[in-house]
Amino acid sequence: MAGRSFDLVLFGGTGDLAGRKLLPGMYFRYRDGDIADDSRIIATARQQLTTEQFHGLVRERLQQNLEAGDFDAGTCDGFLRHIQYVTTDAGDGASFQGLRPLLTDAPERARVFFLATSPTFFTAIASHLAEAGLVTPTARVVLEKPLGRDLASSREINEAVGRIFSEDRIYRIDHYLGKESVQNLLALRFGNSMFEPLWSRSWVRDVQITIGEQVGVEGRGEFYNQTGALRDMVQNHLLQLLCIVAMEPPTSIDPDSVRDAKLQVLRSLKRFSEADIQDRIVRGQYRAGASEGRPVPGFLDEPGIPHDSRTETFVALKAELCNWRWAGVPFYLRTGKRMQDRLAEIVVNFRNVPHAILQGPSGIAAHNRLVIRLQPHDGLTLQLQAKTPGDGMRLQPIQLDLAFQNAHKARMLDAYERLLMDVIRGRLTLFMRRDEQEAAWAWVEPILDAWAASDEAPKPYTAGTWGPAASSALIGRDNRAWHEEV
Ligand code: BG6
Repeated sequence: MAGRSFDLVLFGGTGDLAGRKLLPGMYFRYRDGDIADDSRIIATARQQLTTEQFHGLVRERLQQNLEAGDFDAGTCDGFLRHIQYVTTDAGDGASFQGLRPLLTDAPERARVFFLATSPTFFTAIASHLAEAGLVTPTARVVLEKPLGRDLASSREINEAVGRIFSEDRIYRIDHYLGKESVQNLLALRFGNSMFEPLWSRSWVRDVQITIGEQVGVEGRGEFYNQTGALRDMVQNHLLQLLCIVAMEPPTSIDPDSVRDAKLQVLRSLKRFSEADIQDRIVRGQYRAGASEGRPVPGFLDEPGIPHDSRTETFVALKAELCNWRWAGVPFYLRTGKRMQDRLAEIVVNFRNVPHAILQGPSGIAAHNRLVIRLQPHDGLTLQLQAKTPGDGMRLQPIQLDLAFQNAHKARMLDAYERLLMDVIRGRLTLFMRRDEQEAAWAWVEPILDAWAASDEAPKPYTAGTWGPAASSALIGRDNRAWHEEV
């Protein structure tokens, strides 16, 4: 049944995120009957386009970005009837008046402003919306990452937007929280009684979180060169995953219960000293190599990248949490562009049995391991020890494998698709609160500062590998290895 009617105003309507994720996501929600007949998507950008011209663009982007079987011309026509286009310019407040006639002032109607633009425009857009009288008491604003470049700039944006929208109307998006497996981790931890007693330093040996991408900078050279992997992935996606793994059980699924619990994790992250930054963090940059069997250029030869750029395309680090539950348990985090495979996963390695009466093939029995896979396919694997068939009593590891897709026989919603519907329905739980985001900046800032002051270049690695040798050495020093089975 179609839900609440809405007006969704999409800033950056002609941009990459809108074309690749947001509009395809809304197309699926329309196809599945989730969009009420009188709901509207008002796309806006600086480009001068008519609604008809914009419809042409949307049709093209849907054809490019949807699987062949998912695109249906009739469904697309029906979807386009919900979409209008209007030109606005963040540098020209008067242009925002063009939005007014397209919005309906009805309190029961959700009004959402989604800012899929560079964060440098957030403050201006929010102010122009207010000046044009478009910010009703229930209007919501969605802020896409990156929210600033550091703590100070993110505070500035938060202050400015916060003068116009109250905190409970601000949806700071981290699309990793919209991924099926991440929500399944919440279900796994807090919907089952069997994991929680094991979920602490008593039974967990270490946790590894990897987000490896095969793609390079994909035409975003200029942006990426100013950003780097620490700001692009660690400050937000990796830390948010860490929060979901490590947080205390919240009292409810209400936004503030969950966000308070996540904030505690961020606050208990041990600050890196200068020596730690040297010892516990590896930054890398890819050189020419191969990806999926094709030769690919190195980062320094990508369009828009200066030849002496020191921007990191890879980060691996060893984090620790200063609290009773996790003291002494290493959390190894890593992310990189042009990795060997597209792989995103959370691996929880459990301790060995305290007294081994049975042996594994190499004399040592393997430990239990829980892998929560986000990419390429959502699912989870639990490694247990079982008896090797036949004579004798030796152990061998076996895998209990669960692909969520097969378990539910249903299409998995894309992260943005789910999060957009959450905004429309007013569910804040999976969005970051200001204090969380600032705590994450405060933790990465000493690293950013140390790197900016250092003469050392990032460690090179060949495109199509798992990063610099120093990354294996980082975890190898603790007699461990990265989990890299796809
Ligand atoms: C974005 C980053 O937030 O996440 C990109 O800016 C990155 O650089 C992307 O490629 C990865 O998202 P996903 O869902 O494709 O893993």
